[in-house]
Amino acid sequence: MAIDLITLRDPRAPAAEAYRTLRTNIQFSSLERTLHTLLVTSSAPDEGKSTTLANLAVTMAQAELRVILVDCDLRRPALHSIFGLPNDAGFTNLLLDAAAPIPFQATEVEGLRLLTSGPLPPQPADLLGSRRMDAAIERLKAEADIVLFDAPPIIAVTDAAVLATKLDGVLLVAKSGRTRRDRAREAVQLLQKVNARVLGVVLTNAKLEKDGYGSYS
Ligand SMILES: Nc1ncnc2c1ncn2[C@@H]1O[C@H](COP(=O)(O)OP(=O)(O)OP(=O)(O)O)[C@@H](O)[C@H]1O
Ligand SMILES: [Mg+2]
Repeated sequence: MAIDLITLRDPRAPAAEAYRTLRTNIQFSSLERTLHTLLVTSSAPDEGKSTTLANLAVTMAQAELRVILVDCDLRRPALHSIFGLPNDAGFTNLLLDAAAPIPFQATEVEGLRLLTSGPLPPQPADLLGSRRMDAAIERLKAEADIVLFDAPPIIAVTDAAVLATKLDGVLLVAKSGRTRRDRAREAVQLLQKVNARVLGVVLTNAKLEKDGYGSYS
């Protein structure tokens, strides 16, 4: 299947190398404190959250970790499209029926399983903040080395902040030439307010240096 992720399409490209560097940096930050669950968010829509997380998931699976990628963007889910898979059942089914098997979908990447959003609920933040959510996270953790969660932007809706309180770390995405400084600052403040562990920022859309280190690979 033709999945348009750089880490699959062209693993030797500088951008793919950048995602591997991201993976390594995250692995180092987890030496001090366990990092079993990770959230991605950003200040505004279209900054590259889902793409970043999907590529990170691929590189983690390529490093032989058992990875689960979960679409908790219950407003604009995208991971099923990125992996070219249906979204009939997914994460919200897990919340609705805790006794049913988890509707994972296999991807073409060994070790990487996807849990798409499933049917979208009317009040995503309430669902994400519920006790059922805690139980769902525990179930997912038991199934993988790392569970990666996609989320909506943090400024417009509270979903990501709610999720951040329940997960081990947060990766913030900012888009070069697009994300406003004050907005990025506001996103960090919102995460700090809920005592989230912000691991760092990923800058997307950055221009690659012409004669950068990428040329070695
Ligand atoms: N590293 C990158 N460099 C340049 N463009 C990127 C990068 N990552 C993603 N994009 C582009 O940015 C756009 C938005 O990507 P994506 O859907 O991943 O963002 P998002 O933040 O998850 O959006 P949403 O707010 O809808 O969830 C897409 O057109 C994608 O191709
Ligand atoms: Mg997205």
